[in-house]
Amino acid sequence: MTSTLAISAKGVGKVILGGEHAVVYGAPAIALPVPSLATEVSLKETPTPGIHIFLDHYPGPLVLGQSEDPAPAFLSKAVSVALEALEVTDTPSVSLSIHSSIPIASGFGSSGAVSVAVIQAFFRYFGRNLTPEELRRLAHEAEKAAHGQPSGVDTAVIAYESPIWFRRETPVETLPIGRPLTFLVAETGLRSSTREVVNYVEKKWRRDPDSYETLFSRIGETVTAMRPALGDPQALGALMDLNHQLLVSMGVSSPETERLVMAARESGAWGAKLTGAGWGGNVLVLTPPELEQAIATALITAGAQHVHPLTLGNA
Ligand code: PMV
Repeated sequence: MTSTLAISAKGVGKVILGGEHAVVYGAPAIALPVPSLATEVSLKETPTPGIHIFLDHYPGPLVLGQSEDPAPAFLSKAVSVALEALEVTDTPSVSLSIHSSIPIASGFGSSGAVSVAVIQAFFRYFGRNLTPEELRRLAHEAEKAAHGQPSGVDTAVIAYESPIWFRRETPVETLPIGRPLTFLVAETGLRSSTREVVNYVEKKWRRDPDSYETLFSRIGETVTAMRPALGDPQALGALMDLNHQLLVSMGVSSPETERLVMAARESGAWGAKLTGAGWGGNVLVLTPPELEQAIATALITAGAQHVHPLTLGNA
């Protein structure tokens, strides 16, 4: 049965606490949701045949299925993955409005959030429930259209909307955070393509497999040590610094990133690292709660375009 009311669904933003890039090669990663950033989707029946999409960043509406369909590949794919899983064969007549506060191409998982929200909206529209695991699996199919061979960490954390332990080909584990952790996410303002950075790392790995596999396994060890350190912010911060150093050795940092990492550490942060694919994007900072404001100011002075507060765990 379909709904005649507007259905809404959302996908949150995300950051990676540790393990980016190495996760593509089988190492574990820890990822965190960013609930203050989200993609909101509203789906409702229309008299006009077809699926009409109204999207923030594109002149709309877009009608899926037209030969010059300008919708991003992952978006068309999210719609088709959802309809296939729902076993809907006749294209429904619906409008799909998508608004997002998640900056694009900055490491916040904007495409994953759109995929999760769109798939969830179609399931709700057809009156069907989805477990986080089913949602993750379907959104991962759509992400493959956006990024080629993503590890799946983005869609997993967005679908579960919880801190997660992620490793390719193994079940996702949600991670409880007891003691509150106060993070800041600083945007360098530099956009980069995840696909390009992942391809660069792959090229370097093919040229020098020994060095790169050593880096991947050292990152894996660092992330493994982060898990018990979730209750010990100082130890966790030191592991974030170590993870960052390994990413620098991999060649995925940038001068803008380094400026923000240095500014955070010099103003008393427990740890700071690039988060996501790199070559710009975001820096994740773990701060003593009493220094949150001072460190946010230092980040802005060092060139951050925006600083987002992110506190996880129970007070
Ligand atoms: O979407 P981003 O920029 O946060 O990067 C995803 C993390 C990578 O490990 C670099 C790629 C992947 O597929 O896991």
